[in-house]
Amino acid sequence: MAAHTPEQTTAGTHAKKRRCAEAALRYIDPGSVLGVGTGSTVGYFIAALAARPGLIRAAVSSSTATTALLRSAGIDVFDLNDVGTVHLYIDGADQATRARHLIKGGGGALTREKIVAAAAERFVCIIDDGKLVDTLGSFPLPLEVIPMARTLVTRALAARGGRAEWRRDFLTDNGNQIIDVQGLPLADPPALERELDTLTGVVTVGLFALRPADVLLVGTATGVETI
Ligand code: 5RP
Repeated sequence: MAAHTPEQTTAGTHAKKRRCAEAALRYIDPGSVLGVGTGSTVGYFIAALAARPGLIRAAVSSSTATTALLRSAGIDVFDLNDVGTVHLYIDGADQATRARHLIKGGGGALTREKIVAAAAERFVCIIDDGKLVDTLGSFPLPLEVIPMARTLVTRALAARGGRAEWRRDFLTDNGNQIIDVQGLPLADPPALERELDTLTGVVTVGLFALRPADVLLVGTATGVETI
């Protein structure tokens, strides 16, 4: 099933995505092993990498979709367990604040994305300016859950004011389900992430606040803003 994409992507948005993706190239240490996220913005980044053969030694991938894109671009993909620390991780997001807190998981790859981000010394996040917000939350927060715990987690979220919607007919690369939640209090993203992490049956919360991005590259109509 398609990723959770609530709004149409316009030609202007594609140009902004390409702009921030290409700007991320300058953060790469040549010859290093690079962590690579998932999504259409990352697709532009992989296309930019493909145009610079030999720039990186190999990649660690955050999804089967990204692995396929990397391989078709002629880039070797290593298992994270064989690499250890990743020098740099490049990924998109669904929403971001100037504090570099993120909502991720619109494409359903949040668990592997969080793992590679945790292993990375530096996380550069690439977004178009339509995703930059004062407060997270207008984009539904994805949670990856163990399938048998879906309704248990849904009830626990409802007790906290959250309205959860099951992303039907979608399984993650890990064989789990996704629920998208609205209505949770997001004034303090690290606190909410910490709390939701404790719910039994939750594999991964799509809030990236305890480990935020280190750099946000925001594609605009005229250039790229660095935060
Ligand atoms: C996938 C993600 C993506 O980074 C997020 O959905 C942004 O995608 P896109 O670049 O296509 O807008 O978190 O799980």
